[in-house]
Amino acid sequence: MTLSDCESGQVAKRETMQDKILENLTTAVLVFDQNLKVRSMNPAAEAALALSDRRVHGLYCEELFQEDASSLDNIRNALKTGACYNKREAQLLLTNGNTLAADYSITPITSGNETNLLMELQPRDRLLRIRKEETIKAKQETARILVRGLAHEIKNPLGGLRGAAQLLARELPNEELQEYTTVIIEEADRLRNLVDRMLGPIKPPTMKPVNVHEILERVCSLIHAETNGALQLVRDYDPSIPEMNIDAEQMIQATLNIIRNGMQAISQAMPLSDGTITLRTRILRQFTIGNTRHKIICRVDIEDNGPGIPSNIMENIFYPMISGRADGSGLGLSIAQSILSQHSGIIACESEPGKTQFSLFIPFENKANHGLEMPTTNNKNAGISQIKNGNNKQKSAGALLS
Ligand SMILES: Nc1ncnc2c1ncn2[C@@H]1O[C@H](COP(=O)(O)OP(=O)(O)OP(=O)(O)O)[C@@H](O)[C@H]1O
Ligand SMILES: [Mg+2]
Repeated sequence: MTLSDCESGQVAKRETMQDKILENLTTAVLVFDQNLKVRSMNPAAEAALALSDRRVHGLYCEELFQEDASSLDNIRNALKTGACYNKREAQLLLTNGNTLAADYSITPITSGNETNLLMELQPRDRLLRIRKEETIKAKQETARILVRGLAHEIKNPLGGLRGAAQLLARELPNEELQEYTTVIIEEADRLRNLVDRMLGPIKPPTMKPVNVHEILERVCSLIHAETNGALQLVRDYDPSIPEMNIDAEQMIQATLNIIRNGMQAISQAMPLSDGTITLRTRILRQFTIGNTRHKIICRVDIEDNGPGIPSNIMENIFYPMISGRADGSGLGLSIAQSILSQHSGIIACESEPGKTQFSLFIPFENKANHGLEMPTTNNKNAGISQIKNGNNKQKSAGALLS
């Protein structure tokens, strides 16, 4: 081996390490050439701008996002003068129509007679989202501890009460009087069931590798049967998502609770046939849940076109016993959230009239998923299947990650 072989080996090694560092950064990094055309961007930038590196290569800066004219002039100026430029609380209009609130810094980097612009972008909503989720998680943990304590205090005397009623029933001289003990036993059972439901899943989940789309399809067939096919179910799946190590039964229950809520909300506001529920799956990289950063997670969006969540309960829908329906027990969402929590995931929700979206964030990182080959890009557009129930209508794949 010659010295230059050694040197080139080291350079290659350094490049792969640099690539890996860039790939794992949570800060979005973009590099523009002297004509402000994209040279490269890391996965965090792809996720923030909802675009893939392959699609944007060679596009101009203003084709990636729109900002006020003066900021674009300042970016161009940085190229000319070699001075850095920072902007806080910028509002970037993305190609998918969403607006991204972000802080960014522009640094010109000159090597020989070539100047490139380095853009480091920190989405603000990400920080806000993490802070909000941390608060939600902490509040829900407090509620769970409270419910667990209360459940214990209720279930113990309830067991005694039920046992005593059974003994009494045996001693009663005539059968008519047993009606009263039957009422006591049945009401005690009803209360125990309610407390059990409030507690959420008691068994620890049984994790097995499952395709997340199989779970969604099971739920779709249940909803299809419940509604006689009246409700439109739109699938917008990323078929490249590998199997996940999850408890299939629990995950079916969580998604079913959410989709049923959508269905009930739609049916209260309009004919079911005007309702649509969209199921969307995507892979996200470098995603933080609570205070854990996950390399890769699966996001499942469940969106409906119903009337939206009443604003007076919006903040508290994941707590037990919160319901906006006269016949609702207010447990569906708190159970779903506990299930996701058992999978180290979380459910988030955004709602406005005509568009309510629940997003399930499910991490991949557990034993059965180790060693799985993951797709190398965000795969946000590649091979996304879109089937609309009934009329097989295709929809644009434009609305991607936000
Ligand atoms: N997609 C949705 N659209 C409108 N409102 C919703 C939607 N999802 C949930 N909600 C509101 O959130 C409330 C809480 O939902 P949750 O599933 O926890 O309880 P529930 O549906 O009332 O009762 P349960 O599911 O226990 O039968 C609902 O009563 C409803 O008011
Ligand atoms: Mg419900």
